[in-house]
Amino acid sequence: MYNKETEQRLFKLSKKILNNTSIPNEIEALSEAQSLREVIQYHEWKYYIQNNPIISDFEYDSLFKKLEAIEEKFPDLISPDSPTQRVSPDVVSDMPTVEHMTPMLSLDNSYNAEDLNDFDKRVKKVLNFDENLEINYVAEPKFDGGTIVLVYENDLLVRAATRGNGKAGEEMTHNAKVIRSIPLKAAFSKWGIEKVELRGEVLIRKDIFNKINKKREENGESIFANPRNAATGGLRMKDPRETEKRHLEAFVYQISYAINEKGEDVLEDFKTHHNTILSLHELGFKTPKDDIEMKNCKNIDEVAAFCNQWQEKREDYDYEIDGMVVKVNDLVMQETVGYTSHHPRWAIAFKFKAKQATTQLLNVEYQVGKIGSITPVAKLEPVQLAGVTVSNVSLHNEDFIKSKDLRIGDTVLVERAGDVIPYIVKAMEELRDGTEKPLEFPKYCPINAEEQVALQRVEGEAAWRCPDCTCGAQDIQRMIFHVSKAGMDIDGFGKAYIEKFQEMGWLKTMADIYRLDYEAIAQLEGFGEKSAANLKASIDKAKQNPIKKLLKSLSVHHLGKRASEILAAEVEHVLDLKDWDLEKYTSIKDIGPVLAQNVYDYFNNDKNISLLMEMEALGVNMKATEQDRKAEVIEGGVLSGKTILFTGKLLQMSRTVASKLAQSNGAKLLSAVSSNLDVLVVGEKAGSKLKKAQAIPSIQIWTEAEFLEKVKG
Ligand code: IVH
Repeated sequence: MYNKETEQRLFKLSKKILNNTSIPNEIEALSEAQSLREVIQYHEWKYYIQNNPIISDFEYDSLFKKLEAIEEKFPDLISPDSPTQRVSPDVVSDMPTVEHMTPMLSLDNSYNAEDLNDFDKRVKKVLNFDENLEINYVAEPKFDGGTIVLVYENDLLVRAATRGNGKAGEEMTHNAKVIRSIPLKAAFSKWGIEKVELRGEVLIRKDIFNKINKKREENGESIFANPRNAATGGLRMKDPRETEKRHLEAFVYQISYAINEKGEDVLEDFKTHHNTILSLHELGFKTPKDDIEMKNCKNIDEVAAFCNQWQEKREDYDYEIDGMVVKVNDLVMQETVGYTSHHPRWAIAFKFKAKQATTQLLNVEYQVGKIGSITPVAKLEPVQLAGVTVSNVSLHNEDFIKSKDLRIGDTVLVERAGDVIPYIVKAMEELRDGTEKPLEFPKYCPINAEEQVALQRVEGEAAWRCPDCTCGAQDIQRMIFHVSKAGMDIDGFGKAYIEKFQEMGWLKTMADIYRLDYEAIAQLEGFGEKSAANLKASIDKAKQNPIKKLLKSLSVHHLGKRASEILAAEVEHVLDLKDWDLEKYTSIKDIGPVLAQNVYDYFNNDKNISLLMEMEALGVNMKATEQDRKAEVIEGGVLSGKTILFTGKLLQMSRTVASKLAQSNGAKLLSAVSSNLDVLVVGEKAGSKLKKAQAIPSIQIWTEAEFLEKVKG
């Protein structure tokens, strides 16, 4: 329907209109209205037909409101084809089209308590109510699936259809019949109803969705982007047996039409929305549970509180929901409040903070870590996501970039679910105009532009590393780690000082930390005598640290707290280690071959030995202390005695590596969540295990980063 060029043009035009806050004058209004109509129609097509929106609901609403404002100011400009004048987009289908008994409008959106209050005021205004009078509303989840419209005649399900354009939808009775929560027969006649039209939402449970996707992945089939796509796709299957395999469910949330045998409208006999839902439940329909999923609220403040509660717990719910729906409870009052051409005035959606947003990938920067691993970081056009501004997102490693085929200039979809770190879901390929630049992972150290230091990738690891840093980038990271709490723990010394002193030309290697000129520091802006003296005292104190701390602070790959303690307990002097051969390391229990090789390499490198000698000459203790000897009796590693389980997709290491790391740090692996579990480490897209663990208060839930921090100390 839209070709790629048109899609790109319309996307750019939308963003341009959204960024423009000026109000058009009479001359500009016509072309602005035409542009708005064109882009709104396009976004409706993306949303309803393609199930693939590329702007947020908030942005769509802003566009719609802009058009409404222009048309209100210049009514002559209203054209019959304006999106404000009709319900919604065209039906595209090879399934028979059927007309609904009552046209289905959309819902207006609200985003916070203030919007809800405005809605409440509007309702009162239409009803001529005094501001102080309270209106009774019902709030319930806004299910994020596919709309279904069901018709029952003489108690039998006779027709089911999708929403379509609101006036007519696609008939799919054969598929609805395989959805177990839709009764084939329901006793409406006991209420004197002959024909009734119901509205509801077809959904797929999150855990079932995950299982289906896993199976599809195993079979080499494409996976569904989200439960909504799996549900709406399921409704449109040609073969109902295929629909059945998706285990769809349907919640019913409205009666839109009801007549008795005389053809009289009996809808208002139900009196309230709350009663309607309870009655439908009684007839065997799946409906929101009273007081849990749905609340009969005595005023708008109660509504706001209930909506906020749900915003907090939406991640734990079995189904995807993207907000709440707030409805005037009294059915007669609903009709009095009435409708606009676009939505009912008696209802509003309370949208949760977006978990996803689209933005532009401006650039990728490569950061060098303390052991030389190169981490690509995406620089994004800042975008609001679930309440925070996101402008930097880690791309983890080369494999991640390749699997997503990311390019500079791409419009990307960013997601932040719950407390999970934001990540890039995908690039919007349909918006590419050919100017996007494929990402080339650097072959050489990205910081050192002059000398070409080739990067290396260790077999079995995802990271590229700079094996022999000559530019100082790694030294800075190492120094930052060296002074940190996890290293020598130099009180008051941190990243900012390291960067500042490095900029002054005072720090090139770790040894320089111990030859700082405190008089010069005192002269620096923002320092003074006192802070220079404090810094000196902290550094002098750290010089006396036990050698286990020093060993750990050297940034030898995999040499964490436990292994440093073990080694410290084995030597009289740190430099004794330069005489050790590989076997001597591996003969020690708890020192694996990889770590052994790393420590061996470190102490067989002349540069490192001179550094340590230099540090010793500057007063850093290199001799084992009482504390170092005691280390022998310290039980196990940092996870000693703990049980641990990993769930979800880990991004920085494989499951095997994670499990080994956990075990080498003293943890015992479990395979299921129970009260015996101490720690659950959650990766991307964690599912039922996370949910189960959240219900057991004694279980600690760590992110992958937290786990790494703990084991690497
Ligand atoms: S009431 C006039 N209640 O949201 C429309 N809609 O446009 C009355 N939806 O796709 C709709 N959960 O399928 C209503 N509890 C709920 C809902 C709900 C999801 C969907 C509906 C439609 C859109 C509203």
